[in-house]
Amino acid sequence: MTAGEIALMILVGIWVFVPALLPNSAAVVFGGGTPVDFGKSWKGKRILGDGKTWRGFFGGALSGIVLGLIMMGAAQLAGSPDLWGFGSFGQGVGIVICLAVGSLVGDMLGSFIKRRLGIERGMKAPVLDQYDFVIGAFLIVTIFYPNWVFSTYIEGYHWVSLIVLLALIWFLHRGVNIIGYRLGLKKEPW
Ligand code: CTP
Ligand code: MG
Repeated sequence: MTAGEIALMILVGIWVFVPALLPNSAAVVFGGGTPVDFGKSWKGKRILGDGKTWRGFFGGALSGIVLGLIMMGAAQLAGSPDLWGFGSFGQGVGIVICLAVGSLVGDMLGSFIKRRLGIERGMKAPVLDQYDFVIGAFLIVTIFYPNWVFSTYIEGYHWVSLIVLLALIWFLHRGVNIIGYRLGLKKEPW
């Protein structure tokens, strides 16, 4: 592979994951109201906590899906082959839905684990806070589009794009949360 091909491969790996990156931030903006666990507890601790709401879930998921559609629309307009990494349009729609919904499912799974460990809503949980949504997105998209995940993030040298993506997410997560905190959208800078 040439340096250009490697750069392009890394860029595509980041690009197609964008629909999984937006929902968490969008959930902060849209969130509020009825919690997903309806305020219920399990063994004396909240199932998910007040930080996971239905409005956040649907607002966040829809934001990621709409952004994904816009991204594919841009690829379509540019007349680009293979819709810039999503493959066909039909598959792209499916992938975008899996990534957006999966990221928020992962986020809830993270909160579920935090509550079981006795970590209160909003309290720090290193690694879990940064990667719960990534794990959720990859889990769901791998269930429905295993071949696409393999060819985009594993096959040949494609694992390099996965490593770069995971490293980028670490810094992106820190940066976005600090911005959200400064803007007064988030209660904590993580
Ligand atoms: N949010 C929401 N619904 C979701 C996800 C997030 O309403 N499904 C909103 C909540 O207002 C939440 C904020 O986004 O407080 C930040 O999300 P996050 O950091 O994931 O939640 P925390 O409040 O930190 O709670 P937890 O400890 O459970 O992660
Ligand atoms: Mg948090």
